[in-house]
Amino acid sequence: MKRWQATEFGMPQAVLKLAEVALPEPGPREARVRVLAASVALPDLLMVQGRYPFVPAPPVSPGQEIVGIVDKAGSGYPFPVGTRIMGNSRADIAVGGLAEYTLSPATGAVPVLPELTDSQAAGFPGSFHVAHIGLAHRAALQPGETLLVLGGSGRTGSAAIQLGKALGATVIATARNHDKARFCQAQGADHVINLREQPLTDTVRDLTGGHGVDVVYDTVGGETYDQATHAIARAGRVLLVGFASGTWGQPDPQHIMFNDYSVSGALSAFRHDTERDETLNALADLLRQGAISPPVTDQYTFDDVPAAITSRSGDAVGQAVVTVASTAELVAAP
Ligand SMILES: NC(=O)c1ccc[n+]([C@@H]2O[C@H](COP(=O)([O-])OP(=O)(O)OC[C@H]3O[C@@H](n4cnc5c(N)ncnc54)[C@H](OP(=O)(O)O)[C@@H]3O)[C@@H](O)[C@H]2O)c1
Repeated sequence: MKRWQATEFGMPQAVLKLAEVALPEPGPREARVRVLAASVALPDLLMVQGRYPFVPAPPVSPGQEIVGIVDKAGSGYPFPVGTRIMGNSRADIAVGGLAEYTLSPATGAVPVLPELTDSQAAGFPGSFHVAHIGLAHRAALQPGETLLVLGGSGRTGSAAIQLGKALGATVIATARNHDKARFCQAQGADHVINLREQPLTDTVRDLTGGHGVDVVYDTVGGETYDQATHAIARAGRVLLVGFASGTWGQPDPQHIMFNDYSVSGALSAFRHDTERDETLNALADLLRQGAISPPVTDQYTFDDVPAAITSRSGDAVGQAVVTVASTAELVAAP
């Protein structure tokens, strides 16, 4: 079978090779999955460059999120062979999803909602599923509240904008150029703050009449986190989701206590089964109503993986997807 991988860190075009490797064998609560499509995002680029904390040394095999068909189930894996699932790969051990087959852990895997195409399903758990876990379960976002999404044009941020609107919030998003700001508006953001032109804290205070935002969805971290937490309302909630800036937000206990807000994490793979089922049912309803729609903005072929990953460094918005195989091809295969 074929897999994109690198034996050293560097730029994708320089180090990634399409290698012929042995079929991976699933361990307990894992499946071998025939990959249909993989989502490509900033973490894949950081991973190949050696800037992603969960892959500290080569070899590296990107493609963290996949949609595919269960080919072989390890002991205790919950879904039978033949199930179309969406979930994570084992990119953490260099068995990534930009491959004909990958390994996928039971934690975080779910059968694909019928409302989703393969391309939409490839990144759904890491975008809409984590947004719903964060906004609905951890932050308990209420209709009429104000949500601030940091990194609104990204894959995870754009899902939070759409979902925040669907849950009845007023949504403010951040972006760093006009094209990204327009994309945030197209996802439903009521206001977009261009961080190249406007100060975050003061602009949020102005937009909210001094009240501040009720919930912060942070996919960026670093200084942007600090500025956002200086514009949070009493009893506000901050969700730590990602670190697109390269540095996680650094919660300050004294600031939290004196400003009366809470900070929690949101990760698509970590939730108990009841939350998972509630979230999937809620998201399926919203998909059917047309209230949310995963924005697949770029499609690449399996041969174009280095270009797909490189594209996430610049002005990319929404979600990029690499098609590995189609269901029709797999059914026709001997
Ligand atoms: N918790 C979870 O379950 C989960 C799931 C998926 C991803 N994540 C994490 O979320 C973060 C974002 O991932 P993603 O897939 O949404 O990435 P993405 O699609 O590339 O989006 C990142 C966004 O962050 C903004 N940004 C701000 N500062 C940046 C910087 N210094 N460099 C690059 N982008 C910057 C960019 O918008 P502007 O340029 O307009 O600012 C961009 O739109 C990553 O840290 C990832 O690991 C977490």
